[in-house]
Amino acid sequence: MRHLMNPLDFSAAELDELFDLAKSISEDPEKYSRVCKGKILATCFYEPSTRTRLSFESAMLRLGGEVLGFSEASSSSAAKGESVSDTIRVISCYADICAMRHPKEGAPMVAASRSGIPVINAGDGGHQHPTQTLTDLMTIRTLRGSLNNFTIGLCGDLKFGRTVHSLIEALMRYTGIRFIFISPPELKIPDYITDELNAKGIEYEEVIRLEDSIGDLDILYMTRVQRERFFNEEDYVRLKDFYVLTNEKLQLAKENMMVLHPLPRVNEISVEVDDDPRAVYFKQAQYGVYVRMALIMTLLGLEVQNA
Ligand code: NCD
Repeated sequence: MRHLMNPLDFSAAELDELFDLAKSISEDPEKYSRVCKGKILATCFYEPSTRTRLSFESAMLRLGGEVLGFSEASSSSAAKGESVSDTIRVISCYADICAMRHPKEGAPMVAASRSGIPVINAGDGGHQHPTQTLTDLMTIRTLRGSLNNFTIGLCGDLKFGRTVHSLIEALMRYTGIRFIFISPPELKIPDYITDELNAKGIEYEEVIRLEDSIGDLDILYMTRVQRERFFNEEDYVRLKDFYVLTNEKLQLAKENMMVLHPLPRVNEISVEVDDDPRAVYFKQAQYGVYVRMALIMTLLGLEVQNA
């Protein structure tokens, strides 16, 4: 049985297969609409989410399966003190696969070690968010045609943003990628990531001003400041509007640069930018459904012939 805790749990070749499957689903969704008939996905969300939980549920429903679950810890037995290990053992009797989000780093991993069904990490604290990374990679691969040879700027909360951590780790496997980390000093990328980049000899730069580097970028990955992970509100208020991408700043960017964002957006991208063809974050959310459909099929070992 296979779980997904980290984007690196799949080899680059396996990811290619997964993206090919997601592409094929996007081209003919009807063909896949009964693949998961009789299967149940449990979404166990101990932390708020709109996109991730609903995109998992949408993915399972579009495959002809069913869904059950909870969307906050207070409405589950966690409120009574149940451990994730016990919860997953019980959920294993009710469902065939589980997507779990938890505020504690490593909680989905603990659950996976006790689980009778595949577990997907749908975000654990400030640590990892592998299915967002699959979504990001699928978006880049589809719209650029390749996952090699580009300069990517990651901008915003690089300290607490788990989507950023997962994406960098995943991109380290491809060639010709240059990273530019754009953040205020308080929200800079964790040392464990720069240590890894140094050890692998991968090129990166750390800058504070978006305007200084936007012109070099092929991809700009914007992120929101992660309010829920701050220790005090004052720091959050001081940093929350540090970056605001506007049409004016976009004028400094390449004609074919792509703007990605895992969403939800707060203020970091002005709504006027939505109409610029370089803004691809809503398309990215659509790819998220196809890639989760492909992932559910893969972890359940299902093929379209089963339909
Ligand atoms: C991200 C997350 O939960 O980490 N959202 C998402 O899943 N699309 C990003 C965020 O909350 O800022």
